Amino acid sequence: MHRATPTLSVRSLASRADQGLEAVFDNHARAYTYYGSGKVALRDGLAGLVEPGQNVLIPAYLPDAVAEPFRDLDLEPRYYRVRPSFAPDFADLEARLDDETAAVMSVNYFGFPQPGLEEVAALADERGCYHIDDNAHAPISVANGRLLGTDGDIGITSLWKLLPIPNGAVLYRNSDAAVGAYEPTESAGVRDRVGLGDGTFLLKSTARTVLGGIGGFSQSLGSFLGDATRAGAGDNERRDAARDGIETEPLERDATEPDGGTIVEESDGDPPAVGTPEERYEEGKTPMAKLSKYVLENADPARIRERRRANYRTWRRILADRDDLAVVYDDLPEGICPQAFPVRADRPDDLVATFETRGVGAYTWPRLSATVRNDPAYETARRLSRTIVALPVHQHIEPSTLEEIGTRLSR
Ligand SMILES: Cc1ncc(COP(=O)(O)O)c(C=O)c1O
Repeated sequence: MHRATPTLSVRSLASRADQGLEAVFDNHARAYTYYGSGKVALRDGLAGLVEPGQNVLIPAYLPDAVAEPFRDLDLEPRYYRVRPSFAPDFADLEARLDDETAAVMSVNYFGFPQPGLEEVAALADERGCYHIDDNAHAPISVANGRLLGTDGDIGITSLWKLLPIPNGAVLYRNSDAAVGAYEPTESAGVRDRVGLGDGTFLLKSTARTVLGGIGGFSQSLGSFLGDATRAGAGDNERRDAARDGIETEPLERDATEPDGGTIVEESDGDPPAVGTPEERYEEGKTPMAKLSKYVLENADPARIRERRRANYRTWRRILADRDDLAVVYDDLPEGICPQAFPVRADRPDDLVATFETRGVGAYTWPRLSATVRNDPAYETARRLSRTIVALPVHQHIEPSTLEEIGTRLSR
């Protein structure tokens, strides 16, 4: 257990610039910028490339709020059908593509490349549209030597899905056009000050396990906390509250943190829906928190990847003999850092409930847009959103804990 008061001196952040997650981005990406949210990164990356009134083709199997950046740019989000394998239904995609199509988006689900990813890129190229590589789920997955998210003209990834941090995302600009057209808004970059939100996030239960969980990060966050609590200087009440871990202002994002739960309950799922998709999108219009930057500079990507892969393999073994579910990705190719262990369940509600009684935060994904929910043409996406159950593989979880759950499940 790490204490929340300064104990060790923290090495200078600059001296770690060649390590951490940032080194992964430096090594693989041509140009990138941090953001608080992936959706806002999408908006900024696309803004200089499109004209109002154009449309963007996006998969129907997608969280509702992800259409908002396109609406913000006065683009029509146009959903294309997906196959049960998560590949695009190319006949449907091509039928919806027209002269006003500015871009086609692919999505790498659960940390794996989307089946058909190369065909999407080729199609976009052939039809003169931009390709958006939505890699929200897989910040450090590498396939065929390429970091996922760096394949399209622009790409994004969501760091808060990988690390227990208040917020964080990356915008990749991969093509000449995307590099040339980019103009950052005030949501781009990292906050230059530590805020009280950083401190309260850090003081909450799961955030304290950050130290052990992000890998190779054994230093105290004490001096960071010192800054965080000083951020409310002049306001003793708030400062004391922050030290005690009491929230005095809402956190920007708390998605990876179960309420007072055990580590296993940690899930990488979407945060509870508060407000409309538009409101949730607007809330993301903020730069990345300073704490997020600190954590990602100090996290060990190789260790995180290995721990998540070990948990993935453990789930695969534990669940191999169950006839009420099917593993989505049997193969775990080298370089992939899974976001979750997705299964296709015959009775998803029962499965989620069973896991919950065993202390596992399993979840169905995602919350679809109303357009998709209400149109039978998107039956496959609707079925996937009801039947795919994602199990956590978070780096905080020990494989032995999953083994114990496996034993209890088989009783
Ligand atoms: C596939 C996909 N794309 C984009 C996003 C948006 O990322 P962010 O929450 O960082 O805005 C999400 C988030 O849930 C997602 O699942």
